Amino acid sequence: MGQKNNHILILGIESSCDDTSAAIIRDGYLLSNVISSQAVHSAYGGVVPELASRAHEQNIIPTVHQAIKTAGIDKSDISAIAYTRGPGLIGSLLVGTSFAKGLSLSLGVPLVEVNHLQGHILAHFIREEGVEPHIPEFPFLCLLVSGGNSQIVLVKSPSDMKIIGQTIDDAAGEAFDKCAKVIGGPYPGGPYVDKLAKEGNPKAFNFAKPHIPGYDYSFSGLKTSFLYLVRDYLKEDPEFIEKNRADLCASFQRAVIETLMDKLKRAVKDTGIKRVAVAGGVSANSGLRGAYQDAAQRYGWDIYLPKFSYTTDNAAMIAVAGMFKFMDGEFDTIDSVPYSRTIV
Ligand code: KG4
Repeated sequence: MGQKNNHILILGIESSCDDTSAAIIRDGYLLSNVISSQAVHSAYGGVVPELASRAHEQNIIPTVHQAIKTAGIDKSDISAIAYTRGPGLIGSLLVGTSFAKGLSLSLGVPLVEVNHLQGHILAHFIREEGVEPHIPEFPFLCLLVSGGNSQIVLVKSPSDMKIIGQTIDDAAGEAFDKCAKVIGGPYPGGPYVDKLAKEGNPKAFNFAKPHIPGYDYSFSGLKTSFLYLVRDYLKEDPEFIEKNRADLCASFQRAVIETLMDKLKRAVKDTGIKRVAVAGGVSANSGLRGAYQDAAQRYGWDIYLPKFSYTTDNAAMIAVAGMFKFMDGEFDTIDSVPYSRTIV
């Protein structure tokens, strides 16, 4: 067990939701990152867990095969297999977990379990040949915003992360998805709202902002406030949505971003840590990226914005997170089982 040909080659496997992904990193540098998305869910307006598990079963072998082929390596070169153990959809996780275990046994290499959320945060450590790395030093703060989570995490090291604030109800991504749904947009709604928001007036409408203590978030009130506002205006004008789509998106997006940034600014002020990263699907949002750029200029933050391909679910981040554990000799056992809820 250990390094092969003086290189550390990690195969990462991600299957927590509706993307089957496999990636290879060599000594921290990405050689391949293959993602098989599942179009089957679009007709249902959200991910259908049973369909996701079945699609993972179909996709996992070709995806891993393609990752190995694209990387130009042989499977016997692999030093360890890192896989997402949770949180996520249990049926989906079982496919990746079972496959990772089987392959680790057949290749005789160690297995490394990775927490999906920590993977998102450690996506900032993915190195690419020929690309100047922009990697945060420890400690740093990370705003983790996805379809299932909104957290402020104090990252002291790859293995020492502390959640200092989190949503008490819905996640920021869920709020974006709901906003799009109310105005007849597609799922997932974030990219749709983001695009329309660019053409709208962010001050056209005001929504109730939550008052939650500490660094915690709440987005359910904002969702309801948006729903009621649209419902009330529709009573006066049935074409209200048509006429105000961009302004609605811009105003809603402003409310989400201000909520996220207010707590983050407070966390930076209280901890004195000015290295601030963002991770997760919502980190693709152009308004949120703009707010980070503003904070960098105004408050002197060192900001870390992930490449767009690493904001959503991918195995490259799982491979990197696995590499840190591999180097610490933190291996998994064959009897470990996936978990659906976070146990960070
Ligand atoms: O991290 P992710 O791919 O999946 C998990 O939840 O694990 O995040 C998906 C979420 C969805 O709610 C989607 O609407 C949101 O990220 N999202 C965005 C944007 N792109 C994706 N939200 C706002 N603006 C975007 N550009």
